[in-house]
Amino acid sequence: MKLIMLGAPGAGKGTQAKKIAEKYNIPHISTGDIFRANIKNGTELGQKAKTYMDQGLLVPDELVVDLVMDRFAQPDCENGYVLDGFPRTIPQAEALDAALEKAGAKIDYAINVEVPDENIINRMSGRRACVGCGATYHIVHIPPKTEGVCDKCQKELILRDDDKPETVKKRLDVYHEQTQPLMDYYMEKGVLVEVDGTVAMEEVFDAIVEILGA
Ligand code: AP5
Ligand code: MG
Repeated sequence: MKLIMLGAPGAGKGTQAKKIAEKYNIPHISTGDIFRANIKNGTELGQKAKTYMDQGLLVPDELVVDLVMDRFAQPDCENGYVLDGFPRTIPQAEALDAALEKAGAKIDYAINVEVPDENIINRMSGRRACVGCGATYHIVHIPPKTEGVCDKCQKELILRDDDKPETVKKRLDVYHEQTQPLMDYYMEKGVLVEVDGTVAMEEVFDAIVEILGA
């Protein structure tokens, strides 16, 4: 099963993609997580990406596409994957299509997790991410068992650098301008499905499972 998660920053793409990956036993590929891991490890790619990410801008397509193509070549992608945060521009979607065509494959669903902008800022300011395993929480909606500590690996939970309200506003502008056109792109391909992302996390997941099949 090959899936794409679409939706605004903070819509819950990562939250749902993790659950999908677990249930359907496919890898969760998040370009944002890959960049953050590179930043943490001080790689050249990480340094380049950070300058864009901290401003709420997209990392240039050429840096993203090669990275994802390398990831697809890993053996765990044989039975599919759930893409989270990629593609994010029309050129990225076209690069993905070209790679799929070459492999004789296709996307099964592009799942749009729909959340209005008004809800986003509040969600982001409450988000906490684990410095160890990358698990995400929300201080009100999805709190960890112990404040500031990851349930899974006991490491520290932090606010992401790009989750400051002014950066979130910029990310939302960039989303509307550069990523929202992908809705039409995947609608025309007949693979776009939509779920309401404003309801509880479990309800969002149930709606996705209903579409994908148990
Ligand atoms: P990325 O990491 O992909 O960030 P994003 O798209 O902005 O999305 P987020 O991860 O912020 O949100 P999410 O939808 O995953 O929400 P989450 O599940 O965490 O990218 C970061 C940056 O990297 C980009 O700005 C760009 O610079 C660069 N980048 C990455 N990919 C790129 C690409 N392809 N091209 C170019 N640049 C790229 O949920 C949010 C919060 O809400 C959490 O606290 C969560 O616990 C909570 N929550 C989730 N679901 C619910 C619910 N149903 N009810 C209540 N709370 C909920
Ligand atoms: Mg995410």
